[in-house]
Amino acid sequence: MWEDSREALSPLSLGDRERILDAGAGTGELARVLDAESPGAVVCLDADPELLGVARADTGLEAVVGDATRPPFVDRSFDLVVCQALLVNLPDPAAAVRAFSDLSTDLVAVIEPDNGDVGVDSTVEREVELEKRVRAAYIEGVETDVSMGDRLVSLFRESGLSDVRTRRYYHRKVIEPPYGEGSLSDAARKASGGALSQHERELRGTLSGDEYDALRSEWREMGRDVIEAMREGTYRRAEVVPFDVVVGRVTDAV
Ligand SMILES: C[S@@+](CC[C@H](N)C(=O)[O-])C[C@H]1O[C@@H](n2cnc3c(N)ncnc32)[C@H](O)[C@@H]1O
Repeated sequence: MWEDSREALSPLSLGDRERILDAGAGTGELARVLDAESPGAVVCLDADPELLGVARADTGLEAVVGDATRPPFVDRSFDLVVCQALLVNLPDPAAAVRAFSDLSTDLVAVIEPDNGDVGVDSTVEREVELEKRVRAAYIEGVETDVSMGDRLVSLFRESGLSDVRTRRYYHRKVIEPPYGEGSLSDAARKASGGALSQHERELRGTLSGDEYDALRSEWREMGRDVIEAMREGTYRRAEVVPFDVVVGRVTDAV
């Protein structure tokens, strides 16, 4: 996503950083960009050792297993603490922002998608309607706030961060011929129902058993239509994911 949106990272002053923590780094997608853009040392933190193993192997960066709401570092260990798509996964995102403000001597930044405001267009018409239904049911069933938007700014202010700046960006993903391997395997996961099963728990939280089964069968049929359209070379899908970049400054650092 950062290939065409690096300008969104300018408020993080990456050129001036000495030590950066990427909290909830996963496989290191953001850490890789931070490392390329900053002369500072980048450290990855994640609760999942397997994902971190990938980050360590792919980036060569220091990778530490731990909970972002109780990070295993002494206060003021970094001059930037940043996360991408972490808060939307946490039951208590405020605890993470408070922890980040304790850890940083200067900046705290979060980059979070607004999953409630995603736009999809597709040449397979029923894909648009089905994705809308699945997204609505998922958002109702999921236990965390996956559409934080303006609430991010409140979290920053409540944590005592100052100079809070926020800006919304839009990440556009397009699938069109010639189809890459990722697009082909996404289509296969639609047709097998795998893409839906990934969110089965949340969907079953709001749908009855029969509703879920009916949705799954419609979804798989749609997946088969997508594969067919790909074979014919007529499939095109565009998705726009809004994401907010929020940056604040630590005021009470010693
Ligand atoms: C959607 S992924 C984002 C990964 C990465 N930041 C990226 O943008 O590609 C969310 C990540 O947060 C991690 N995570 C979830 N809860 C966590 C916690 N309490 N402490 C640390 N990491 C956590 C997950 O293991 C996962 O790697």
